[in-house]
Amino acid sequence: MAKKALITGILGQDGSYLSKSLLEKGYKVYGLMRRYSNPTFDNLDYLSVTKKIEFIEGDMSDESSLLHVIKATQPDEVYNLAAQSFVGGSWQQAKVTTEVNALGVLYLLNAIKLFSPTSRFYQASTSEMFGLASDGDYQDENTNFHPRSPYGISKVYAYWMTVNFRESYGLFTANGILFNHESPIRGIQFVTRKITDAVAKIKLGLSDKLYLGNLDARRDWGFAGDYVESMYLMLQQPQGDDYVVGTGENHSVKDFVIEAFKVAGVADWEKHVVIDARFKRPAEVPNLKARPAKAMKKLGWKTKTTFKELVKMMVDADLKRYQSKKA
Ligand code: NAP
Ligand code: GDD
Repeated sequence: MAKKALITGILGQDGSYLSKSLLEKGYKVYGLMRRYSNPTFDNLDYLSVTKKIEFIEGDMSDESSLLHVIKATQPDEVYNLAAQSFVGGSWQQAKVTTEVNALGVLYLLNAIKLFSPTSRFYQASTSEMFGLASDGDYQDENTNFHPRSPYGISKVYAYWMTVNFRESYGLFTANGILFNHESPIRGIQFVTRKITDAVAKIKLGLSDKLYLGNLDARRDWGFAGDYVESMYLMLQQPQGDDYVVGTGENHSVKDFVIEAFKVAGVADWEKHVVIDARFKRPAEVPNLKARPAKAMKKLGWKTKTTFKELVKMMVDADLKRYQSKKA
């Protein structure tokens, strides 16, 4: 019989790539989605998998809906990807961020404990939990947390709750501490997609300026399609555990900007980029770089896409999108 997976946050970037990958592996996929007055399946349409997924309405901040979905689906694996995932918005929406990203995980773990204790649980943890902390130049499973945003703090709570349900009740739970991962279907507010979208518009004469905040922040950027494989691998291990996943290389926002303009063949990037204080954060995370040795050794996972390939993939996709709109 096909294995059953429940994915929360199915309509997001990672939910789209993960659902495609699990369907290809022969899984029956259930997707938790919020109720919309006007639903959009853009990401899933992009990956052409919509028809094979069974959608269930629910909300991470509504415990009763999570009890219902776990009881009704009895999944072998639960991938909790749902979150208010935009760090920059988490200061203005700290309560919602906490309810969804922190309490929502408690509700989901409780539902599993009550109605489906053999389900294996993946929690979408994040390098934002490290914040200011590093061990020298990098972060790994032994690095302390020093989150810098309501988002990072909410994810630290969820991380420890995930560990606690493993230690207290023997549930199979895993934290994937993923560093930034991007793709052509990355949300437009995140800096990489904001850059590639603007560069495509500038190239095609549809715009002239790109407004950004801190160009010096450094991130370890990988491709989302590679990273969702690590989530799957974590749930196939003999025991639940916690893993850092990243490329082991980092670049500044400025490096990303320069590469994107170069790929598009637009000269003089400095003429187009405007520093705008609105996009600076009250507390910044200056430098994230993974040391993914444990994931490489225990999961056999490795990133496949280079920084330059990622930038090109995203710029090309945005150019294609605007060109087809113009045609
Ligand atoms: P994303 O594109 O923002 O997707 C998040 C999904 O969560 C969206 O589909 C959203 O639904 C859903 N959601 C938000 N609030 C919800 C609620 N109250 N109830 C139910 N669903 C809700 O994020 P992503 O980039 O795919 O990231 C997936 C997960 O990994 C997130 O938990 C994120 O924090 C974490 N993470 C991401 C990265 C990264 O670099 N991408 C790195 C580390 C960790 P709507 O479609 O209705 O908005
Ligand atoms: N979004 C945005 N917009 N970021 C900007 C801008 C801008 O105009 N200008 C500079 N930045 C800087 C931010 O200050 C940050 O240092 C960096 O670009 C990356 O910002 P985001 O792309 O918004 O991502 P993030 O690193 O804050 O968070 C993402 O990665 C986390 C993993 O480390 C999100 O996907 C989180 O959900 C994820 O947990």
